[in-house]
Amino acid sequence: MRPTETLAKEHELVILVTKAAEEEVRYIRDTGEFRPEVVDELVDFFEYFTEGCHDPKEEHLLFARLRLRGLPAETGILAEFYREHQEFHSRLRDIEHWVRAWRKTETGDVNELVTHLDGYLQLMRSHVAREDELLFPMANELLTDEDQEELELGFDSIECEEVAVGVRERYRDLAHLLAGRPTETLQKEHKICYLVIAAARRRSTAVRGGDEFHPENVAQLIDFLRYFDECHDHKEDNRLFAKLAERGMSTSTGILAEMMQDHGDLVTRLVAIGDGLPRARSGDRQAIIHLLGQIDAYLKLLEDHMHKEDDVLFPMVEHVLTYHDLEELAREYESDESQEIIEGVHEKYFDLAHKLAVT
Ligand SMILES: [Fe+2]
Ligand SMILES: [Fe+2]
Ligand SMILES: [Fe+2]
Ligand SMILES: [Fe+2]
Repeated sequence: MRPTETLAKEHELVILVTKAAEEEVRYIRDTGEFRPEVVDELVDFFEYFTEGCHDPKEEHLLFARLRLRGLPAETGILAEFYREHQEFHSRLRDIEHWVRAWRKTETGDVNELVTHLDGYLQLMRSHVAREDELLFPMANELLTDEDQEELELGFDSIECEEVAVGVRERYRDLAHLLAGRPTETLQKEHKICYLVIAAARRRSTAVRGGDEFHPENVAQLIDFLRYFDECHDHKEDNRLFAKLAERGMSTSTGILAEMMQDHGDLVTRLVAIGDGLPRARSGDRQAIIHLLGQIDAYLKLLEDHMHKEDDVLFPMVEHVLTYHDLEELAREYESDESQEIIEGVHEKYFDLAHKLAVT
């Protein structure tokens, strides 16, 4: 394999983990919560694989040979890449420092972490794309056949060390683990919904205690729950549950049947809440209390439902579905989500969830 092909293959793994990391950043941004063990794994990958195995092949072997063939190191494209390798290093330190400081007190501004990670990942995508599209074709023009052979041998000797410690396999598994577990996507969405439920309960208690009733809060809550129902339940009903049924799980009795029944009940109850809103809006106290009762019952059902999915159904999924099924689901979820992002609805509803959760 030509040296630039080896590097491009490594880039595929780097991008796979970058994608998983971007997903994690989105989770942190949406929930305000971060999982130190996941961030540790990501930092570990970039430190060990990218900085420890990949960049040295570029700097010590490929770039060094390109300099011999006349490409300047102080200006132009090589200078840019050397500088960016340094920048990755210092940005990764910032991320590590943040996590270390957080561990001491278990507090910290997660927005800072999001900014650090975001900057790192964006630079990574752009760096890798420029190496693949600009540098590698240029290198293949400049290098002689002898250069190519010698570099290949040099790469092989580094490669041996990597294979010995199973680096590649370990990180490929990590990337799949982070990016490819469809139930994790659903659990992350549950997490956001739990926050909205807690906030809605706080408001409901306050209104019962005499606080003013704001119909627009209920309208926003309905709006969020409708979206949640459309996007989240679609991922369950039409994707996950359909696959589980295909693999033989009963849809007429048992947990799957129960979850499907809940989805139907939730839709009906949400329509009833929407219907009750105009009377409550007019200020009729009895109508307001009735509406709050309907909302509380809805939220209780939704919460119990999600707990059953989290605790009972999702743990079964990996035993029922094949690895291929899981990968297919992860791809479908990814395309569902990119559609939501393109249409701007994801952003809108997560903003709304934040607003609902902090009020
Ligand atoms: Fe590089
Ligand atoms: Fe690279
Ligand atoms: Fe569900
Ligand atoms: Fe769910």
